[in-house]
Amino acid sequence: MVRVEGLTKHFRVGNRTIQAVGGVTFSIPQGAFFTLLGPSGCGKTTILRCIAGLEQPDAGEVWLDERLVYSHSRGTAIPPHRRDLGVVFQSYAIWPHMTVYENAAFPLEVRRRPGGEVRRRVREVLELVGLDGLEARPAPSLSGGQQQRLALARALVHAPKVLLLDEPLSNLDAKLREQLGRELKSIQRRVGVTTCYVTHDQAEALTLSDVVGVMTEGRLIQTGPPREVYAHPHDPFVAWFVGAANLLPGRLETVNGIAMVTTACGSLRCASPNGLSSGEVLLCLRPEDIKIVTDRPVTDGLNVWSGILEDVVFSGESSEAYVRVTGTTLRARGAGAAFPPAGTTVYVVFPPERCVVVPRGAAG
Ligand SMILES: Nc1ncnc2c1ncn2[C@@H]1O[C@H](COP(=O)(O)OP(=O)(O)O)[C@@H](O)[C@H]1O
Ligand SMILES: [Mg+2]
Repeated sequence: MVRVEGLTKHFRVGNRTIQAVGGVTFSIPQGAFFTLLGPSGCGKTTILRCIAGLEQPDAGEVWLDERLVYSHSRGTAIPPHRRDLGVVFQSYAIWPHMTVYENAAFPLEVRRRPGGEVRRRVREVLELVGLDGLEARPAPSLSGGQQQRLALARALVHAPKVLLLDEPLSNLDAKLREQLGRELKSIQRRVGVTTCYVTHDQAEALTLSDVVGVMTEGRLIQTGPPREVYAHPHDPFVAWFVGAANLLPGRLETVNGIAMVTTACGSLRCASPNGLSSGEVLLCLRPEDIKIVTDRPVTDGLNVWSGILEDVVFSGESSEAYVRVTGTTLRARGAGAAFPPAGTTVYVVFPPERCVVVPRGAAG
C-alpha cells in the first residue's frame, strides 16, 4: 500500500518560486500497478522523488505499507535507504564499472546480507528478468533493453514492498518498448509488488496500469482504471491528453430525460451525459466511435451529419479519415482501407452511447 496525502513541493529557481506539485493525494492498493500520467514538467518525477525520500515535500504525508515515512506537520522524515523501496529512474542507469552479477548483488551487499542469500537472490532475480547466464558480463556490454532489465533486477533483488519506476522504457525503440512493457507487467504481477510508474506516454499508461492518475501542472485531475479514464474523462484536459479525441464545444440541454448537445456542427443526442443535465460542455467523440458511410442512413435523422471527406491517411492496420462538417474537421478511424476516396460526400454517424459529455471545467 502506498498513500500520498496533500503532497506539495516548491522549487526556488533564482529569485522565483515555482510550484512543482500542488496538493496531490492518491493511494495505491497492495499489489496494484498505478501510473502517474502527464506531460513533461507536470511534476511526476518530483512526486516519485518525494515518495523515495530524495526530495523533502513542503506539505503533506507519505505512507508506505502502513508506515508513515514522511509528514511535514509531524516532522517525520525516514531516510531513503530505510523506506524499503526498489527504484528504477530514467537517469540512474546500471553501474558501468560492475558486472551484471555485481550490479544485481549491490543492494544486498550494502545491506550486509549473508553470502549464501546474496547468491540465491541474485540467481532468482536474474532469472526473473531473463538475464540468467550473463552474470559475468560487464554491464556496459549489454543492449539497452538488457540494461533496463538489469536495472529492474537490481530494484527487486531485496524484495521491496514498493517499486518506483520513472519512465523506464523511454530510451528504447518502439518495438522493444512494447515487449519490455509486457515483460515488466508480467514480472510485476508475479512478484506482486505495489508499483508506482511514471510516464508521459498515454498508450503505455493505458496498457500497463491497473489504475491511471492523469496529471497536469502539479495537480492530479482524474484517477481510475484505464478504460474508465478513456471512456469517461471528467475534464477537458483528460479527454484531450488520453487517446485521440474530437472535442466540440457545445450546450447541453435535457428535455424529457433526453440529453442533447448543440454544437456549431449540429446537435447530437448523448447517452452518456456524465451526470450533467444542462450548461456549457465539451462533446468528446473518439475517432474509432465515428462511423462514416456514403449512403444516407435510414434513421430518424438524429446523430447523422453530412460532410466532405477531406483526407484519408493510411497507416497499416488502420486509416484515419478527416471529414469537414460545417467549418469543423472531425477525425475518424477505421480498419485498413475502410474509407472512400477524399472529396466524397459522406454521412457521419454518432452512436449516442459514445457521445461523451465533458464538463467545461477551469482547465477548458
Ligand atoms: N531540482 C529542481 N530545481 C528547480 N526546479 C525543478 C527541480 N526539479 C523539478 N523542477 C521543476 O518542477 C516542475 C516539475 O518537474 P518534474 O517533476 O521533473 O516533471 P515531470 O517528471 O512530470 O516531467 C518542472 O517545472 C521542473 O522544471
Ligand atoms: Mg520526469
